[in-house]
Amino acid sequence: MSTKILAIETSCDETAASVVEDKRQILSNVISSQTDLHKKFGGVVPEIASRSHQELISLVIWEALKRASLKLPQLDALAITQGPGLPGALMVGMATAKAIAYGTGLPLIGINHLEGHLFANYLHFSNLNPPFVALIVSGGHTLLVDVKKWGKYQVLGQTLDDAAGEAFDKIAGFLGLGYPGGPIISSLAEKGNPRAINFPRAMINSGDYNFSLSGLKTSVLYWINKQKARQKEINIPDLCASFQAAVVEVQVKKTIKALEQTGYETVVLGGGVAANKQLQIQLSKSSRKFNFTLFYPPPQLCTDNAAMIAAAAFHHYHNKEFLSLDAEIYPNLALA
Ligand code: KG4
Ligand code: ZN
Repeated sequence: MSTKILAIETSCDETAASVVEDKRQILSNVISSQTDLHKKFGGVVPEIASRSHQELISLVIWEALKRASLKLPQLDALAITQGPGLPGALMVGMATAKAIAYGTGLPLIGINHLEGHLFANYLHFSNLNPPFVALIVSGGHTLLVDVKKWGKYQVLGQTLDDAAGEAFDKIAGFLGLGYPGGPIISSLAEKGNPRAINFPRAMINSGDYNFSLSGLKTSVLYWINKQKARQKEINIPDLCASFQAAVVEVQVKKTIKALEQTGYETVVLGGGVAANKQLQIQLSKSSRKFNFTLFYPPPQLCTDNAAMIAAAAFHHYHNKEFLSLDAEIYPNLALA
């Protein structure tokens, strides 16, 4: 008998639901992005996110079931993102999942959103097995993880301030380029010279696995203001390429260091910034030099989705790790 799990993901600004069968078969993967609502503010506005989740969640779940040609009683379990994320946004998903669990009697499984980003790779690559070093880089997170086995994680280091995606978003906002900034900056960077401006590689030699991105953001803003004050023209592609190079170089260096320390032979990327072409290219180059295997999900599984939450739920399902109906959300949930 096959096992089918419906997952709901509302931790940030994507209202998502997906049905996955037997660990890897995606029967449906519905994502309603709120990007257009947050665009004019240059970032996610928590209150708008919660309201929009509330409006969309039933429709998105209904659509996920319809595309999977299933009705609720045909499912085996429900999975819900329990954290980390925006409190109001998480709460909408949790309340909905509890209501469905109560109404149907289906078991409810709480998933860590960051574990979900790791499982985006599991969904796509049946030949991927721990142990490996994972770099999770998104709009809200930047961390290096020692994945000893599925379900057993040790965070090696993380950002001390801004997340990588946040830095892309803020700089794009400052330049009036649009939102989200990652895809816009990376495509402009393709026509630019990454060595045009020498931005700082913060913490590159700090000897640990932590990151800092707010200093880089300030340097870029300072550089732009200086050029403006001198009435010098700003070459946007060069600026984007140089900024991106500074972000990528630190991430690649720390990932390689983690690989050397653990002695593992595999690196896995996850999160929205994992879709960044330069990050993929530079790590691929390193993989040939240092002889490791690199995995990263296809773009639609890099950014937030519910299929990755469903995939992560399967091992909890088999271990019978279920939530009770008074379960809470954890906006600051760590990966452990
Ligand atoms: O994983 P995600 O959908 O949401 C969070 O969990 O935060 O990631 C969204 C973030 C945004 O900050 C966006 O600018 C960034 O991922 N992003 C990128 C690229 N595509 C998305 N950053 C750099 N390069 C990209 N190609
Ligand atoms: Zn995410």
